[in-house]
Amino acid sequence: MPLSIQPLDEANAREIAGWHYDAPYNFYNLNPDEIEQNVDYFLDPRNNFYGIFEDSREFVGYCSFGEDGQVPGGDYSMPGLDIGMGICPNLTGQGRGCYYVAAVLDFAQQMFAPPIVRVTIAAFNQRALHVWCGAGFHIVDNFEHQYQSVPFFILVRENARVLKD
Ligand SMILES: CC(C)(COP(=O)(O)OP(=O)(O)OC[C@H]1O[C@@H](n2cnc3c(N)ncnc32)[C@H](O)[C@@H]1OP(=O)(O)O)[C@@H](O)C(=O)NCCC(=O)NCCS
Repeated sequence: MPLSIQPLDEANAREIAGWHYDAPYNFYNLNPDEIEQNVDYFLDPRNNFYGIFEDSREFVGYCSFGEDGQVPGGDYSMPGLDIGMGICPNLTGQGRGCYYVAAVLDFAQQMFAPPIVRVTIAAFNQRALHVWCGAGFHIVDNFEHQYQSVPFFILVRENARVLKD
């Protein structure tokens, strides 16, 4: 299953805006009354959204780099590249999470070469916690969402650095 990360186009952005996850992941569903705002947000280059594609063509998910991956209420005073990610609902839960995450981390390395990568995951989302911990991330902080009283964890991974003598 070769995956590639490429710029997101408007059709991809509209697809994401209409995704519907079943409970408990319906937390990630977007407001159907805000499709245009969400499409604009995904396509705004300042938000660093990219598409994840299978076989170069089939759109299977998105990733984002930077502030989009931060959750209100979290402490992001330490440096780190925040990663956001979402896979098309009908492809989730099929054991492929580690491949999607590996592709996103490879791309992040090529694009940004970050010393530290960071994700913020809702505490109820054991599936996402499992897959990010499997990729070498560990929990460094927890907090409650500023507006939704949902607990979250912040996880980081220190990337290998070239050590000087
Ligand atoms: C988070 C996400 C990328 C994971 O990808 P996925 O393909 O659905 O994940 P998988 O099916 O591979 O499951 C990941 C792991 O969690 C395990 N898992 C699944 N459900 C679980 C649960 N309820 N409790 C604990 N572990 C669970 C799986 O067994 C798998 O473990 P393994 O890698 O050892 O086999 C994807 O579900 C997604 O995009 N979800 C919607 C958005 C979201 O959750 N965002 C959070 C930030 S990434």
